[in-house]
Amino acid sequence: MKHTFITTAILSAVFAGGTALAADPAKIDWSKVPVKEITLFYPGQSTQEWMKSAAHKAGATGVNAGKSCNECHAGEEKDLGDVIVSGKKLEPTPISGKPGSIKLKVQAAYDKENFYLRANWPTNLKEAGAFHNYKGLKDGKWVTYGSNRTDKDVKSGAAKVSYEDRFNFMFADSKGTVANFANQGCWVTCHNSMRDAPNEPTKDQVKAHPVLGDAGMKKDDIRKYLSETRTEMNDAGGWDKLKSKEDLDALMAKGTYLDLWQARAYRSVPVGKADDSYVFQWRNFDKGKKPFDGNWDGAKKEPKFMFDPAKNGGKAALSEAQFRDLKAPKLTTDNSIPYDASKMKDGDILPGFILNPATDGSASDLNASGTWANGEWTMIVSRKLDTGQKDDVALAPGQTYPVGLAVHDDNVTTRFHYVSLPKTLSLGAGKGDINAVELK
Ligand code: HEC
Repeated sequence: MKHTFITTAILSAVFAGGTALAADPAKIDWSKVPVKEITLFYPGQSTQEWMKSAAHKAGATGVNAGKSCNECHAGEEKDLGDVIVSGKKLEPTPISGKPGSIKLKVQAAYDKENFYLRANWPTNLKEAGAFHNYKGLKDGKWVTYGSNRTDKDVKSGAAKVSYEDRFNFMFADSKGTVANFANQGCWVTCHNSMRDAPNEPTKDQVKAHPVLGDAGMKKDDIRKYLSETRTEMNDAGGWDKLKSKEDLDALMAKGTYLDLWQARAYRSVPVGKADDSYVFQWRNFDKGKKPFDGNWDGAKKEPKFMFDPAKNGGKAALSEAQFRDLKAPKLTTDNSIPYDASKMKDGDILPGFILNPATDGSASDLNASGTWANGEWTMIVSRKLDTGQKDDVALAPGQTYPVGLAVHDDNVTTRFHYVSLPKTLSLGAGKGDINAVELK
């Protein structure tokens, strides 16, 4: 089985609007580009605070003295992952049967204008993880029909397992502006007071926060953040201790943030995009119209949109038989209309997210494609070396950047992913773990 998520929508997204690529990533001869194999491991709740705590023993002394994880753990990734995924350490809610690590193959290239990143990994499931969550109408009420493995309804057996696979790439500038990222990698973003971590604040606590909550950013959970954005950090992290707006603006202007790319098998790749975000005081989406939006009205407890029957063979919803069917239509801004309860019947299902083929602004910088074949995903993400956007980290030939890589595989979300130790990406200088070659 082979599924290539390249559609005419992608081609128009790539070639319209003045963002034409100098090279079509699908036409690059990747056999000429060196392959770096990186073992990604399951990190459980090994947060930055855990790294610095007595529980990490000699590791904490090392981390606090500025040593890189690599000095002590390079080559140990598989062992670290096996211990944690088993639930022996740092994982209070293990997923049974989940492998502790995977091998990611990475290739990188650039030309005068663009940067290209190719990632390949064998999936745990023998099918493309190219679906996300779904709502279903049951006894007149919309309930979770499918969601990730750690969702409470999936765990109880009330809902089916369904979530998207993802390839994630995070990097900082080459000047060390984000403290410790070169030594601690993704762990600088990961804190005890965050989603699915030991000191996760409640939704009500987040909603009541004057800046993050209802009165400001309208968040109800805490995602990755940098300690530089907090006035104080303690054993629980520092989710609520935000610096003032003036201080945050100054940090942002200095480049104290991480660029984060996520090639999402359901929510971005089918529209030819990767999700472009940055980690700062929260894990923010870049400015502009992003590839997907939620399709759930929390107040009315019903979907916001349904299929336009005129564009979907007379049907406003999917049937249960279309659940996790690659041929089933995806709900997009082009084929949908506002939800109308009178058009629904019990057993109907609707996607939890709506795709947006017409992205714009900085949220539209990353082009992506993905192919699942013979039990492996291959995803390619490309971008201008320098987008000129304030929420992106520019890349330049000759430079070496600290990077972290991760993969969400087999219907998981949040921290239930695989991560790399701190790595480096070099453009043309040959000094990195991943060495991007110049295309001529
Ligand atoms: C100075 C060496 C040193 C450094 C630097 C270091 N560690 Fe450790 N790490 C250790 C030791 C020693 C242990 C085992 C502690 C124990 O026996 O419980 C450990 C344990 C761990 C574990 C738990 C799994 C296990 O098998 O016990 C994880 C996860 C881990 N380290 C990740 C990291 C990461 C990520 C970094 C960088 C942010 C890091 N370590 C930096 C030495 C180090």
